[in-house]
Amino acid sequence: MYKRILITGANGLVGQKLTAIFAEDRSMDLLATARQPATANTSSNFGYTPLDMTSRGDVKELVWNFEPDVIINAGAYTNVDGCEREKEVSWRANVTAVENLVAASRLTGAKLLQISTDYVFDGKSGPYDETAMPNPLSYYGREKLAAENAVRNSGDNWLIVRTMVVYGIAQQVKKNFAIWLSGELSQGRNVRVVDDQFGNPTLADDLSRGIYELVRRGKKGVYNIAGADFISRYDFAVRLAKTFGFDPALISPIKTSDLSQPAPRPLLSGLITLKAQAELGLNFFTADESLRLFKGQYLESASLQNGD
Ligand SMILES: NC(=O)c1ccc[n+]([C@@H]2O[C@H](COP(=O)([O-])OP(=O)(O)OC[C@H]3O[C@@H](n4cnc5c(N)ncnc54)[C@H](OP(=O)(O)O)[C@@H]3O)[C@@H](O)[C@H]2O)c1
Repeated sequence: MYKRILITGANGLVGQKLTAIFAEDRSMDLLATARQPATANTSSNFGYTPLDMTSRGDVKELVWNFEPDVIINAGAYTNVDGCEREKEVSWRANVTAVENLVAASRLTGAKLLQISTDYVFDGKSGPYDETAMPNPLSYYGREKLAAENAVRNSGDNWLIVRTMVVYGIAQQVKKNFAIWLSGELSQGRNVRVVDDQFGNPTLADDLSRGIYELVRRGKKGVYNIAGADFISRYDFAVRLAKTFGFDPALISPIKTSDLSQPAPRPLLSGLITLKAQAELGLNFFTADESLRLFKGQYLESASLQNGD
């Protein structure tokens, strides 16, 4: 089935992975958009055009001209502590921009896919399925829930994909937990990692594969997509160290409260992915499977940077 796909926020970690997987499908016509010039390798498989999603006029014009069947929003202000400090700026990126996409999708009848987060939950009783009641603790979580609600109220042609602790390698993206940790441990530096935050670490490639299948199969509604293992951040860090052959003794467990972060974190979080697994016929990667793939990508990107 021929489909025109528009990706917003295509220069982010998830945006680059989504662009790569949709570009492989020659039955789809893909347009990637982002605020800055394209960082992903542009090829004849997809077009690129700049777009700031907070400009309602620009969003409308682009959607009107391209007439996508599906709009996938991979853009967001993702610095969770930054959202507490920069409420107006982050609201524009996380909520106003989504309202713009909703309005534009109505113009052409496009399906809107919004990527959301376990931070819509309070982390008192995870892991959560798709029907669990949100109760965000942080401003970021409240913004992402407001965005979900804007999408839900847009009619019935939408997808909300909740995910969590996304990591992976892409060009010029902000450091995610796994990249930071690999860098520190590779230098033999001691690190402190929280052992009271539980969830499902998710390789960005796995998330993108799930999103691609949801779109390809014409699904609608809310889906959780996350890694298969429900583990603490500390456990994940130790597994990363073992996968890479770093010394796990460099990692000390601490509590979230020791960090005094501006944004409260959901502690007992996690996402149940049975619905996506059953409907898509997919198994998401275990932490060890994901980490092996991550290691390959990490070493490849390091050798490219060193000009090897
Ligand atoms: N990473 C996680 O652990 C995680 C967990 C759960 C859910 N999510 C969700 O997954 C989605 C993708 O996140 P990610 O990890 O790929 O984040 P990311 O690497 O920070 O990418 C976000 C992208 O959004 C872009 N963006 C921000 N404001 C924009 C605007 N006004 N117009 C166009 N683009 C804009 C940013 O561009 P600039 O570089 O120009 O700022 C950046 O490239 C987000 O919805 C996030 O909330 C992420």
